[in-house]
Amino acid sequence: MSVRKTPNIAPAEGKLGVLLPGMGSVASTFIAGVESVKKGLAKPIGSLTQIGRIRLGKRTDNRNPLINELLPLAGLNSLVYGGWDIYEDNCYDAAVNAKVLRQDQLDQVRAEMEAIKPMPAVFEQRYVTRINGPNVKKGSNKMELAEALIADIAQFKKSTGVSRTVMVWCGSTEIFKRSTAVHQSLKTFEEGLAKSDPDIAPSQIYAYASLKSGVPFANGAPNLTLDMPAMQELAKQQSVAIAGKDYKTGQTFMKTLIAPGLKSRLLGMHGWFSTNILGNRDGVVLDDPESFKTKEESKLSALEVIFQPDQYPDLYQHFDHKVRIEYYPPRGDNKEGWDNIDIFGWLGYPMQIKINFLCRDSILAAPLVLDLALFLDLAQRAGMSGIQEWLSFYFKSPMVAPGLYPEHDIFIQLMKLKNTLRWMKGEDLITHLGLEYYD
Ligand SMILES: NC(=O)c1ccc[n+]([C@@H]2O[C@H](COP(=O)([O-])OP(=O)(O)OC[C@H]3O[C@@H](n4cnc5c(N)ncnc54)[C@H](O)[C@@H]3O)[C@@H](O)[C@H]2O)c1
Repeated sequence: MSVRKTPNIAPAEGKLGVLLPGMGSVASTFIAGVESVKKGLAKPIGSLTQIGRIRLGKRTDNRNPLINELLPLAGLNSLVYGGWDIYEDNCYDAAVNAKVLRQDQLDQVRAEMEAIKPMPAVFEQRYVTRINGPNVKKGSNKMELAEALIADIAQFKKSTGVSRTVMVWCGSTEIFKRSTAVHQSLKTFEEGLAKSDPDIAPSQIYAYASLKSGVPFANGAPNLTLDMPAMQELAKQQSVAIAGKDYKTGQTFMKTLIAPGLKSRLLGMHGWFSTNILGNRDGVVLDDPESFKTKEESKLSALEVIFQPDQYPDLYQHFDHKVRIEYYPPRGDNKEGWDNIDIFGWLGYPMQIKINFLCRDSILAAPLVLDLALFLDLAQRAGMSGIQEWLSFYFKSPMVAPGLYPEHDIFIQLMKLKNTLRWMKGEDLITHLGLEYYD
């Protein structure tokens, strides 16, 4: 089996621009967090790029550097932020409204946050029905809107003097849509933009503008933003890295921790029922059944792939999988999830597992935004363009090459991510065979 040649990685010189379409809870928690860490006020808990270590060589070699010591990642001090939102609130006000972080904590980074003001958004009410705001671009067709975003990106680069830029989608979940004829090639997509094809969603216009500008793009929502031949063709043509989709945080994170364990012991599954209550703006948007459908599709896929019912019909062929999200304002961003898992063991005897996860959505998502921004920038400097499957670790519905099934098992995803980092530095891949210790 051939392993691709180790890439040359350009150094992380200058500043890194991080553009965020959607400056709500996740985006503002990410920015406030990075700024607090930079001032030594808090620790970047949950971020692999900041506190994760990587084993190199044999277990007896005792080489466990921090990932950011092994690889030339952009430093936190080099980050410069920009973004778009349909609301005019600056990032500080957005964070206050989101009520994720304590006021005293936000006030310590107030000046930095207030300086970040969202640019007018590309928005279409039909795609996100439950919210509406004044900070929206006008254009006579969707191509004009794309060009306006391209101009925003160019202006951001010029005014901030960044040497590289990445874009990470932190905007709302759009209504459920499958790709249609307009998404099948770059040509049809560009014609569709000029004709304002109704099947082109706002998130796709951002992705188009990003890739056209040579800016790598990660998709944090379940929207089909990048999952179409047109975007993949554009990513290839422009040699930019793309990754998606839908941050793997609360309940799906738990699922991809637990399901591989049950499967490893060949325990069967009658059903998995998940429900949760959520009261933030994301919850408002997901209260629309059409937006929820986009989320549901994304959430349902993990278990099917992990359990492989076609290969283990006696264990998994008939399991019921249900996912519910209830909008419940009192909880704000502090989501509570319940899982009831009906499993069976030896001779078919039934057992149950209950999980009650009292989590904080944006606290779980913020470090993922940071890692994705830094890893996408690394991939781009290493000349790795197109779908970055090694970043599957961060997503509920990982993007993969056509014809491949996505890897959902979080432990395999982490191994893939770390082996990719080892490969990038010409280090031995770790197979965990370990026979050499017994020779
Ligand atoms: N927090 C998590 O754990 C988590 C996990 C997975 C996915 N996500 C997804 O991440 C996204 C952000 O979540 P959030 O909690 O920050 O939501 P949020 O509602 O607080 O923020 C989203 C922001 O996007 C803005 N927006 C909507 N459409 C836009 C457009 N076309 N252009 C620019 N801005 C637009 C909204 O005005 C809002 O301020 C959502 O799609 C959510 O489903 C979040």
